[in-house]
Amino acid sequence: MTPYFTEDASVETVNARMGKNISPRLAEVMACLVKHLHAFAKEVHLTQEEWDYGIDFLTKTGQICSGERQEFILLSDTLGFSMLVDAINNRRPAGATENTVFGPFHVDGAPELPMGSNISLDGKGESCLFEGAVIDLHGNPIRGARVDVWSDNADGFYDVQQPGIQPKWNNRGIFVTGADGRYSFVGIKPVCYPIPDDGPVGKMLGHLGRHPYRPAHMHYLVTAPGYEKLVTHTFVGDDAYIDSDAVFGVKKTLVAPFEKLKDAATAWHSPFDFVLTPV
Ligand code: BEZ
Ligand code: FE
Repeated sequence: MTPYFTEDASVETVNARMGKNISPRLAEVMACLVKHLHAFAKEVHLTQEEWDYGIDFLTKTGQICSGERQEFILLSDTLGFSMLVDAINNRRPAGATENTVFGPFHVDGAPELPMGSNISLDGKGESCLFEGAVIDLHGNPIRGARVDVWSDNADGFYDVQQPGIQPKWNNRGIFVTGADGRYSFVGIKPVCYPIPDDGPVGKMLGHLGRHPYRPAHMHYLVTAPGYEKLVTHTFVGDDAYIDSDAVFGVKKTLVAPFEKLKDAATAWHSPFDFVLTPV
């Protein structure tokens, strides 16, 4: 094979340039990436104008990134790539609670609160009691599980999107289970909201005839010593966007009951158990 580039031998020519003493995993990943990238360009017969457009899109995607904004992850999310990587890395036995996308709005260090606390600090929205147990695959309660929860407010924004408007830690908290494995807190019945769509990814969705909405959900990060980390949501089943989540995060098993309560200070009740797998 000549060291010079030809269309037919493009993949082999590029991959042959890799050194011998490099990380075997890096060599494997990059060789495969080059193979599929070249196959993509050949299959669609990528035009020079399309290549220019793609470079400009990626440049703008990078330029809008900041400490608070990660447009590349949003791109990965909206192309279903985040959910694919998540699925590949979290294959679980039947009965275990499924993972879903983490999203950009988790904040480390939320307050650890007593069971039953109300995390809705802005007084907006319909109150909802979330409760259940953290259990293992045999149904045994898990003690000492940290249930870290977060959601948007009734206007469809997370507290970090509205500093100075929403109270700090609005709709966030951490609950640590006791011997019975149970958790409970009062929040609001979640509402749907658009992912940040004022950048290149929002523009891409528009060109693709896609909306930017996520169906209403409550986020959970559940951790316990000896068990795999669970990153998940529970979803409101009758949400208008339940079948068209902009980031493909919905799984059938994560649609939770939301029962309307009569004559109670709390308007809704959403029971859900989290089943963890051992490490
Ligand atoms: C979220 O649910 O918070 C989220 C997930 C992916 C992209 C944007 C937001
Ligand atoms: Fe969310």
